Formats: sequence, structure tokens, C-alpha cells
Amino acid sequence: MSKFDIGIDLGTTNVKIFVKDRGVVLSEPSVVAIKKKTGKLFEIGEKAYEMIGKTPESIIIKHPVSMGVIVDHELNRLMIKELLSRVLKKSIKKSRVCICFHRLMTDVQIKALAETALSSGCGKVFLIEESVASGLGAGIDILKTNGVMIVNIGGGTTDISLLTFNGVVVSRSIKAGGQNIDGAILKNIANCHNLLIGMKTAERVKIKIATVKLPNNSVKYKLSGKDIATGLPKSVVITQCDIFDQLKESIECIVENIKEAVGEAPPEIAADIYENGILLTGGGSLIDGLPELVSEKIGVKVRLADRPTDCVINGVGKSFDMIDNFNLDFVRSIV
Ligand SMILES: Nc1ncnc2c1ncn2[C@@H]1O[C@H](COP(=O)(O)OP(=O)(O)OP(=O)(O)O)[C@@H](O)[C@H]1O
Ligand SMILES: [Mg+2]
Repeated sequence: MSKFDIGIDLGTTNVKIFVKDRGVVLSEPSVVAIKKKTGKLFEIGEKAYEMIGKTPESIIIKHPVSMGVIVDHELNRLMIKELLSRVLKKSIKKSRVCICFHRLMTDVQIKALAETALSSGCGKVFLIEESVASGLGAGIDILKTNGVMIVNIGGGTTDISLLTFNGVVVSRSIKAGGQNIDGAILKNIANCHNLLIGMKTAERVKIKIATVKLPNNSVKYKLSGKDIATGLPKSVVITQCDIFDQLKESIECIVENIKEAVGEAPPEIAADIYENGILLTGGGSLIDGLPELVSEKIGVKVRLADRPTDCVINGVGKSFDMIDNFNLDFVRSIV
């Protein structure tokens, strides 16, 4: 008998924790600040995120997850252990833990993900495919549904899955997400306005004014940074039109991959996709106008999930009730 259930969505941008009977108990940036000399943790999550671009010499900012993949296992283990201890006062021995994986991960990386939980003391670990969890969290009955395409756009990756009768027919993960857009905005502002900004500012610009609809010059945003020529602080006002082209590359890559995934569906399931449409989840799907654009390019209806950033962790939470029924294709059990 397990004592309690814990869900973890370890994302490129955010880490979220679910605890049975309590719901989502933590959502923080997956960022760690460490002391340069000793390598010891200084801050984690929100507090570490606030330090990005402002750290003293003695502190380094690290991202244990990059483009959906754990790049520093020890740091990741420390981050998860610390975050779990913040939300759980009792021992996690004998608990069941469910974590997301996606198809960009190798078997070795998936095993390392499970090790993270096991080394924190959890009893049994399940792994669920991220886009499947996001569909579940968005309210889809994944055991019964047929021909539903789910596209989860995160900070570092986009996961596309076509589900039918408790199985995955088509699945692909690509290294494109919200952070690619932030990086492109940052470069554009440096090139066109001679202004150096950080990724946090670029992300704010994206969230405030980015659109894939017809851009409007009257939608403006004032941002500050460092003049490239003089090194002095400076601010500029940019418009929606200024950053429109920067969205294109990442968005086109995502749309192309959705199109190819739809193209891989067998004819009967293609007909189901036509009926059921495509569901968008993940924080990256909140770009203004994205559902309309995907619908126009693919020719089927597209729905943006409610609270897209929470779909994955809500689905991980729900998965405990159904773990025994799942097709092993998208759920793995590791003792
Ligand atoms: N309103 C918004 N408009 C545009 N983008 C947004 C908005 N809100 C959040 N985002 C973006 O969503 C991304 C984070 O989404 P999410 O939490 O689903 O990613 P993640 O799970 O951490 O990453 P991944 O699944 O790729 O590993 C960030 O790039 C963030 O800037
Ligand atoms: Mg995610």
C-alpha cells in the first residue's frame, strides 16, 4: 500500500508538484543559484529566477533542465529534493511518484529521471508521456477517446501526440518552445535597437505584446537594458510589428511538425482528427492568435485548453487513478 501520491512536472521553464488530496502545491521556475566556490545551493525556484542577470561574482545561475532534458543530474536531484521537502513535512518513503517524460529523452535520461525520485526516497516511480498527461489534465478521457491530437507547447519543447483508444498512434517531440521565441526577441532588440536585454525581459516582451495575428504598430512596450555602443542604461519603445518576424521561425517549425504528424495518421484516424480537432496545452500555446493560426494552416478546429500551463501537472495528478489501466506505451513503471 502506498502512503500517498506525488506528481512532478519537471519542465524547462517551471517545475510543478502535485500531492494527492492537496492538488498542485508548488509551481516555481526550474532555476537554481549556486555558490561558485563550494557548489552548494544558494537559492532555488522563484528566488533564483529573480537573481538571473543580477548575480554577484560568487553566485552562478544554473538551469538543471534545458530544452526538456536534464543537463545536470546532481543539481536536478538537489533541486527536486529541496522542493519536495518544502511542501512535504512527512517522509516520502512508500509514496508513489509520477513524472513526465517525452520522446526527446533517451532511455538513459528517462532512467535518470526516475532515479531522481528514487534517490529522494520515493517508493515507486511511474513515468507518463508529457502530452498524454496534458490531455488528461485538459479533461480528455484518454482511455475512451479516439483520434485526438494534443500539442503541448512548453518553454523548451513541443510534444505532439495523436491518441486513440488508450494508445499513441503518432508521437513526436521537437526542441522548439517559448524560450526559442524569447531568444529571437533578444537578438532582434540587440540588432535593431542596439540594446542588450536579458532573457527575462525578452520573455516579458513576448507575454505582453507578441501576437501571430496581424501585428499592430499601436501596441507598444517600453523596455530597458544596456546600450551596446556606450554600455550605459537606455530604454526603447518597441511595437508588435518590431517582433513579429521573430516569432515566425519557431511558430512555423511547430506548425510544420503538427502538419507532418497529422499527415502520418492512418485515414480513419485522420477523419477523427477532423471531427475532434487539435487541443493546445502548455504555456507556449498562450501566444496570442496561435489557435486560430494552427486551425487555418491545418484546416481543422483547434481548442486552447483552460489554464494551459497547469494541464500537465493536473494530468499527472489524475493519472494515479488510472495507472493500472494505462497502455505501457505511454506509461512506464519503475520500482
Ligand atoms: N501569456 C503567455 N504568452 C506567451 N507565452 C507564455 C505565456 N505564459 C507563459 N508563457 C510561456 O510558456 C512557457 C512555459 O510553459 P510551460 O510551463 O508549459 O513549460 P515547461 O513545462 O517548463 O517546459 P517544457 O515542457 O518545454 O520542458 C515559457 O516559455 C513562458 O514564457
Ligand atoms: Mg512542460
